[in-house]
Amino acid sequence: MAIKTVGVLGCGLMGSGIAQISAAAGFKTYVLEVNETFLQKGMARIEKFLAGGVEKGKMTAEERDRILGQLIGTTRYADLKACDLVIEAIIENVEEKRKAYAQVEAVVGAHCLIASNTSSLCVTELAAATGRPDKVAGLHFFNPVPLMKLVEVIRALPTSQETYDALFAFSRAIGKEPIAAPDRGGFIVNRLLVPYLLDAIRCLEEGLGTVEDIDQGMKLGCGYPMGPFTLLDFVGLDTTYYIANIMFEEFRETRFAPPPLLKRMVLAGYLGKKSGKGFYDYAKK
Ligand code: CAA
Repeated sequence: MAIKTVGVLGCGLMGSGIAQISAAAGFKTYVLEVNETFLQKGMARIEKFLAGGVEKGKMTAEERDRILGQLIGTTRYADLKACDLVIEAIIENVEEKRKAYAQVEAVVGAHCLIASNTSSLCVTELAAATGRPDKVAGLHFFNPVPLMKLVEVIRALPTSQETYDALFAFSRAIGKEPIAAPDRGGFIVNRLLVPYLLDAIRCLEEGLGTVEDIDQGMKLGCGYPMGPFTLLDFVGLDTTYYIANIMFEEFRETRFAPPPLLKRMVLAGYLGKKSGKGFYDYAKK
């Protein structure tokens, strides 16, 4: 199956990164947001990253312009009509995704694949919410999308072999390393990462060490690029809480249960870097 034109639903943190790497790989890429304000914000994020790439000598100004030339921002679903693949990276809500898929299916051809960047929802449920379940799968990227090499390809129960193969090939074409992940809560990476992050919070609650010392321990002792609390702040405490709850629902195992401190920090609005405060205070940093 030849994928030439790609659509990305959502130009937030993940969607903008996905649209950027798709355009950088030479695919004509349409990125859709619900309104102009969100679209401009997302496009500005892409432009900033590319400008940083030029500054760092990672790409030339011509290369940046070529990428931006392959990228079309839109707020109209009708503009997605030529897409061979639509990657959805919108809010983690089944009903919202269902509505978005219906709007995509109303304009794209019968051959068009739909991939969800969900980090926690059941991909089989998402596939079943469309009129083309055999052409739906999960394509889970990691933050920051342009820098993280991995993509998890998640096969839903109805996903066809052809769809699965096409998404593996597409992942490689955009410079990522795909792995086959099962349609189970947390797939592979979050299945291991989330209990580790939750455990770090439990250790903190038990007084095992300070935020700084636990972070330093895992960073310098294990060679992790970020300690667990820096990573929690980076991913977002609300996002981690949301994923943990879904995984706890799925497996009913205590290691996925969000610790009380995480819940209270989310309720207090301490969401991490994006809110200015999480385990670290970014106003001070
Ligand atoms: N354009 C091109 N290249 C850029 C760039 C830009 N704008 N900005 C940075 N880079 C390059 C740098 O030049 C550097 O390249 P080299 O290694 O060749 O020198 C590389 O990217 C790393 O950048 P920095 O040196 O500026 O930053 P860093 O070394 O501090 O790394 C990081 C930043 C990649 C984010 C690193 O800290 C890291 O890997 N953190 C862990 C992130 C992580 O775990 N993400 C997964 C979260 S979980 C998730 O996403 C899934 C979920 O469902 C919740």
